[in-house]
Amino acid sequence: MVCFITLETITALKGFEIGGMMAKRTSVPETALGLPHVAVEAVGLTKVYGSGNTAVHALRGVDVAFERGKFTAIMGPSGSGKSTMLHTLAGLDTVTSGHVLISGKDITALNDNQLTLLRRRSIGFIFQSFNLLPMFTAEQNIVMPLTLANKKVDRAWMHTLVQTLGLQERLQHLPSELSGGQQQRVAIARALISKPAVVFADEPTGNLDSVSSAEVLGFLKRSVRELGQTIIMVTHDAVAAAHADRALVFADGNIIADVHEPQVEQMNTLLLQARGNAVSEYARPTTSTQIPVPPVAQTR
Ligand SMILES: Nc1ncnc2c1ncn2[C@@H]1O[C@H](COP(=O)(O)OP(=O)(O)O)[C@@H](O)[C@H]1O
Ligand SMILES: [Mg+2]
Repeated sequence: MVCFITLETITALKGFEIGGMMAKRTSVPETALGLPHVAVEAVGLTKVYGSGNTAVHALRGVDVAFERGKFTAIMGPSGSGKSTMLHTLAGLDTVTSGHVLISGKDITALNDNQLTLLRRRSIGFIFQSFNLLPMFTAEQNIVMPLTLANKKVDRAWMHTLVQTLGLQERLQHLPSELSGGQQQRVAIARALISKPAVVFADEPTGNLDSVSSAEVLGFLKRSVRELGQTIIMVTHDAVAAAHADRALVFADGNIIADVHEPQVEQMNTLLLQARGNAVSEYARPTTSTQIPVPPVAQTR
């Protein structure tokens, strides 16, 4: 598989801002919770791509809070806004309106340098398309966030990651010499190497067989329990979502379900409903339906 260095990769690793155009900088509304147990919060989050007749309303006013130390899955039909949600929450993409708070700090009000530092210190991102740097070995890719931040590698943690993800034999290989599943595991190790407080993962098990997938999910769960990490993971797989403490279902840029301790059957049923919802909502114009979600997950 051919890999390119995308602007997205460099942005994620170095923490640069794409484009530099932030949304209108209004103060955080009182509806924002800003509570100490909330790691990440979206307040009235909208994202519109393009304009006029061709405008795509990817997020239609999302209000949601993610508790610290919890593992949340995001599900929904293709095109429902899951990746957009993850990218805007991680400060990798600008918002059209609304706010994103990380540890109570409104990241839509940060300048580029502040955003860089926050991302470098607190955020790990596993991309749907891996975004490995093609001229560097697997090992160099894994430690890249630390290299760029001029930080030492915690060798014991590196060893744990490499063993758990089954990468010990592949460390000296280039991404082009690795299978999709191996590249995905390198991308996971890279996101976790600096033990970030929040990890965003866009379909991290999408290229893994069911055994590797269960191992990776088990590992993510462990890192939530043992490191107190907050993980927000997009997945199309109800089995993967059932590993999470909570699952959100997106349809057409809105959250349509918020489930505590999700079960496989339940998630499959909700996904089917979301597909129906997405179809019927296509006919609907651009009005946003805000579904306020309390910080503590609820089963609906
Ligand atoms: N860069 C972009 N430019 C224009 N439209 C986009 C862009 N990225 C995503 N979209 C559109 O926004 C909607 C949501 O996309 P996305 O967040 O990628 O959905 P998902 O991850 O749920 O499949 C889709 O209609 C998609 O085509
Ligand atoms: Mg996506």
